[in-house]
Formats: sequence, C-alpha cells, structure tokens
Amino acid sequence: MEFDHVLAVRSSVRRYTDEPVSEEEIEKIIAAGERVPVGHFDFKNYAIAAITDKKILQLLAEENQALSGRGDPIYGAPLLLLIMSTPEARADSIKLNAGIMAENMHLKAVDLGLGSICIYSFIRTLNSTEGYGRYFQAMHLPEGLQPAMAVAVGHTPVPQRERRLVPRIKTFRIDGKE
Ligand SMILES: Cc1cc2nc3c(=O)[nH]c(=O)nc-3n(C[C@H](O)[C@H](O)[C@H](O)COP(=O)(O)O)c2cc1C
Repeated sequence: MEFDHVLAVRSSVRRYTDEPVSEEEIEKIIAAGERVPVGHFDFKNYAIAAITDKKILQLLAEENQALSGRGDPIYGAPLLLLIMSTPEARADSIKLNAGIMAENMHLKAVDLGLGSICIYSFIRTLNSTEGYGRYFQAMHLPEGLQPAMAVAVGHTPVPQRERRLVPRIKTFRIDGKE
C-alpha cells in the first residue's frame, strides 16, 4: 500500500474473524518490528514473541477477566505480538522503544490489509502479578524477559476504509514568520 493510505486507513480494530494470520504475514510483521530505531542501540535488551497458540491466548483472556473484569484484552485476535525487555534495558526508555516497535508492527499489519491494535491494558494488569501472569509463564520463554507492550492482529469482518483526518492533537508551526 502507499504509505499515506496506510496512515489514513490505520485505526484500532476491536473485532476480528477466526481466520488465522498466515506465516508469511507474521514474518513480515515481525520484520517490521525489527526495523526500528532503539535508543542507545540497546537492541539486545528487547525481544518479540508472535503468539498464535490458542491455549495461551485463551489463558490470557481468562486471567485478564479474573483480574480486571474486562474479558479478552485482545478482542479475539488470532495473533498477539508481545514486545518484551530484559532487566538490563534502560528503564527510562523501555516504553519508548517498545512503543516504536509496536507502531511499526501495527502499521505493517494495516499495510498487509489486516486489522490491528496496540494494547497495554493487560500488561499493566498482569505485570503486577507473580511471574507477569500464568499466560506468560506458560510460554516458557527465556528467563528475565518482561512484557512491555503488545499488538494484536487479525482479519477484520469488513474492509477498513480511509478516515478523514480529524485534528485531535494540538500542533504548532514555528517558522519565524510574523
Ligand atoms: C500505548 C497505547 C496503548 C493502548 N492500549 C490499549 C488497550 O489496552 N486497549 C485498547 O482497547 N486500546 C488500546 N490502545 C488503542 C487506543 O485506545 C487508540 O489508539 C485510540 O483510542 C485512538 O483510536 P484509533 O487508534 O482508532 O485512532 C492503545 C494505544 C496506545 C498508543
């Protein structure tokens, strides 16, 4: 897709079909997550897990429901990209770096014609529980990794359309002109 079209189509999708995301699409989304700037070149302290295991996604939904009462935090999406950091990552930059990785993958999903959403709520909830939650322990990832940010991806029931730009953020132009 043309880049401006990707930006215009991008929205946070909260409804998905059961259709899985293909392996080829998953690889492209992960590659987008790797093509990021990371402050202080701290790449070694970040990791991305692409989760399609229905048992893990179900466990996440159940655990989130039990702790927050908010049900499935990823709205039934068949793919969850979990961005993680190690204890050695610079603490003041983790959310910045993880956010940039998330946005790259969110936009790549749109580029592939998929729906997607950046998610932090369940990480806030479950990171405060032992071992960052049972869903996280059940994946048996290498020791020391800690969830930082997530992106859910899947097929949308209806095609996504371009949205008109509605100004939601204040912007300023400082160009020295009177
Ligand atoms: C850092 C971050 C965390 C977010 N966490 C959640 C979340 O936990 N659950 C959710 O439904 N949406 C989440 N969102 C999506 C925002 O709610 C959404 O981007 C915002 O409402 C604007 O809507 P739009 O993306 O469709 O333009 C998050 C977005 C960002 C950037």
